[in-house]
Amino acid sequence: MKTLIKTLVEAVGPSGHETAVRDLVKAEVAKLADEMRVDALGNLIVRKGVKQPDGMRIMLSAHMDEIGLIATHIDDNGFIRFTSIGGLRPHTLLGGRVRFLNGVSGVIGGERLENTSAVHGLEKLFIDAGAASKDECPVKVGDMAIFDRPMLELGHRLVAKSMDNRVSVAILIEVLRKLKKTPHELYFVFSTQEEVGVRGATTAAYGVDPDLGVAVDVTGTGDTPKGLRMAVQLGRGPAVKVKDAGMLSDPRVVRWMTGTAEESKIPYQLEILEGGSTDARAIQLTRAGVPVGCVSIPCRYIHSPSEMVDFKDVQNAVALLVKLLSKPVKLD
Ligand code: CO
Ligand code: ZN
Repeated sequence: MKTLIKTLVEAVGPSGHETAVRDLVKAEVAKLADEMRVDALGNLIVRKGVKQPDGMRIMLSAHMDEIGLIATHIDDNGFIRFTSIGGLRPHTLLGGRVRFLNGVSGVIGGERLENTSAVHGLEKLFIDAGAASKDECPVKVGDMAIFDRPMLELGHRLVAKSMDNRVSVAILIEVLRKLKKTPHELYFVFSTQEEVGVRGATTAAYGVDPDLGVAVDVTGTGDTPKGLRMAVQLGRGPAVKVKDAGMLSDPRVVRWMTGTAEESKIPYQLEILEGGSTDARAIQLTRAGVPVGCVSIPCRYIHSPSEMVDFKDVQNAVALLVKLLSKPVKLD
């Protein structure tokens, strides 16, 4: 599974340009799927199983896209100014390397600041792609780039760009592999454009029209020096989301998840995330509304070029999802 994660995190797929990632996922799931289609927004929708009398139609969603940068203008000396695709954090950018979709690489430089302890805002940063003039610049306005970083293994911990959310893409693929039988009609959705406002999941949820929804995504942790104020820690198991900034999980879904984890002796944590949301929000608010929850993978340094997860949490998330989906669901 680590090889699969490495392949996925090193693939290029900023929001709206998920084709390369989708092709990798398609190749992995083709043999496991009962049916597979791509909708107008590029979501890959994979059906597994048919609805038995005691089953439900369940939508699982993991977004394929990653945050990125987009060129806004090129100056006369060939320096590229840019803005963000999704929630870039400017203080993580200076000195980093980026790769454009056309294969061009560049480094991020910053204007000289009078106050040397100040942080560069996006407007004070630029990309240097090695060009000496505007004409020579191999990048044009509208070209998109992503962080250029290979995956790193640090003991149990895996570090990469786009762990948000390729680690969850890998988890859903692994669940498809491990799930032997299910009473449910399962729709595994590999969604697009989450980082710009859960747009892919919005249309996918409308199309699938599920009875129940589960997003799989990363969440922050409170275990770094003077970090986020939250109870989630790396390596203590997948987190069952109770609340984030855009969604309240259905309490019956939370009980279904925590009860199953306890019965199966799978470690888990409870998550309250004060900023950000996931595809579960889009599923919850589709049509006349859907009960939803979210299985979250604890992740340090989210939206930086070095996002860190613990491989044990990844394996436990797979185990929990397989248990959840193997049996009839009773929401009470
Ligand atoms: Co994100
Ligand atoms: Zn995400």
